[in-house]
Amino acid sequence: MSADKPKIYMSDIHLENYTEQYEKKQADVSSMIFDAGRMRESLDGEWHYAVDQYDTCLRQQWFKEKFYDENGYTLPLDYSFDEWPTMHLPACWNTVSKEYLLYDSSIVYTRNFSYVKGGEETVILKIGAANYLCRVFINGEYIGMHRGGSTPCFMDITNVLKENNRIIIAVDATRRSEQVPTENTDWFNYGGVYREIELIRLPKVFIKDFKIALVPDGGYNKIQVKVQMSESVSAESVLSIGELGIRKVISIVDGEGEAIIEAEPELWSPENPKLYQVDVTCMKDAVSDKIGFREIKVESGEIILNGKPIFLRGISCHEESVENGKALTDEERLENILLAKELGCNFMRIAHYPHHERMAKLADEQGILLWEEIPVYWAIKFERQKTYEDAQNQLMELITRDWNRASVIIWSVGNENADTDERLSFMSRLAQCAHEADGTRLVSAACLVDSEKNEIADRLIEYLDVIGINEYCGWYTPDFEKLPQLLENSHPEKPVIITEFGADALPGHHGTITDKGTEECQAYVYERQVETLGKISYIKGMTPWILYDFRCPRRTNYIQKYYNRKGLCSADKKYRKPAFYVLQRFYQKMMRKEEKCLQ
Ligand code: GCU
Repeated sequence: MSADKPKIYMSDIHLENYTEQYEKKQADVSSMIFDAGRMRESLDGEWHYAVDQYDTCLRQQWFKEKFYDENGYTLPLDYSFDEWPTMHLPACWNTVSKEYLLYDSSIVYTRNFSYVKGGEETVILKIGAANYLCRVFINGEYIGMHRGGSTPCFMDITNVLKENNRIIIAVDATRRSEQVPTENTDWFNYGGVYREIELIRLPKVFIKDFKIALVPDGGYNKIQVKVQMSESVSAESVLSIGELGIRKVISIVDGEGEAIIEAEPELWSPENPKLYQVDVTCMKDAVSDKIGFREIKVESGEIILNGKPIFLRGISCHEESVENGKALTDEERLENILLAKELGCNFMRIAHYPHHERMAKLADEQGILLWEEIPVYWAIKFERQKTYEDAQNQLMELITRDWNRASVIIWSVGNENADTDERLSFMSRLAQCAHEADGTRLVSAACLVDSEKNEIADRLIEYLDVIGINEYCGWYTPDFEKLPQLLENSHPEKPVIITEFGADALPGHHGTITDKGTEECQAYVYERQVETLGKISYIKGMTPWILYDFRCPRRTNYIQKYYNRKGLCSADKKYRKPAFYVLQRFYQKMMRKEEKCLQ
């Protein structure tokens, strides 16, 4: 409130910018801690909530809970936290109740919880994901804010905890042009705290990050390890991999330590998803993780896994189920992986944003390679520095979160962005950031073709290891002959993955192969696509769009009815369209050919 404003008791109605006060405490990649193998206490369950379309909670600062006038009289309140209805979290509010299906603004959640101090000296609150702005208050204090709809946030709440605590989480799912993604996407904007809410107890000094991987040098006999402590201490850390007979003392100096360990682990691959139990201790802290050792690289136009060229038989997949929106259960995640494997896949493009961390852990166990992506999608505000910082933070939170996952082989910095100077600057910086953060993986993006020249010619390619290409010949580009011409006109020097092709088909809707929206038309597009793409030697993978139909507010025609129908399966995954079997036959034929080559 500036001095010239009238002093009244409800000053919020004159606030010009009520959000500024919350910008000062950002939870970002620097707030993250290593949490694999740690005991955690769940705050999931019944939370009271109120729909807060005008952000009155933030404007009136409800978290302060008591309001008095200048004479000390208590003031009327516009909320009653513990009388509000309850919602079971984590959840997307859109699927909890029909009345909230299309709501994408703010909802305030609150609950009480008890806390009895144990031997710990630090307590971290972890929220697996909340879409899109998430502000946290505990016991009348503003704790912090996280920006980004699909990555976790960690907040230190040590000094605010009492025996009985009130936590408030204000979530704002509003779509905005300056956000990442913007207000316009081809998927449904689910809102809420839709991944787990946990307390993690830690010693005063703890293991803040732990990275382990095979040294990328082709020898497969050296393991690199990096340990980062929460403070710049000097100490000894012990790394154990029992099954390999490894126990290694790593010196920690100024809070960091690294080592290269001679070892010959059984290599992780989709055919043999071998995982090792890795334990790390330092001072009073201990963590553990399940690690697969593998090497991925590109060489002479090939994608090389553990020294052998590989074709990535993939499929794209959103994070969604009819019943739970983006708040998938583990069973639903596993169902998606098994469906992809039934298709004959060794690879999944989990688009267009970071999926739940359990997805990569399940992929490690099940043996399926992953393309992970941040939602730098379509027309981002590439000229805006704060938008870049948001995108880079989401990228770094994803890389930090999934760094130890063998299944993740590609970080994608975006999807289908027009090749402008601002976009090139923005996305090349992201690609460089990913390369600097992780020298053990490939960097890519799903690019558009140059439609005027009908060739693969995106200036971003220079910064990528693998070229992702979205093309819809036979659908958005009706003249299918454009595809062979495109492939003929292009001479990429890097491996190409066709990251999208496809067609809509309403399950059970029949007609001729040219009747758009029929199963026959979709199957025909797939037949022509795989027949054409299968002949091109520089194509080293494909992730057709998409495993199953998904909610999409942009799709309103008589077969779509607010769903994107390019799925190979129905939205509930109970029905496989004929195109599923076209792709499955193509992949099975490819596998047989590969097996023959091995004999
Ligand atoms: C684009 C985009 C997808 C979208 C698809 C479609 O390529 O990347 O997010 O759903 O096309 O139009 O169905």
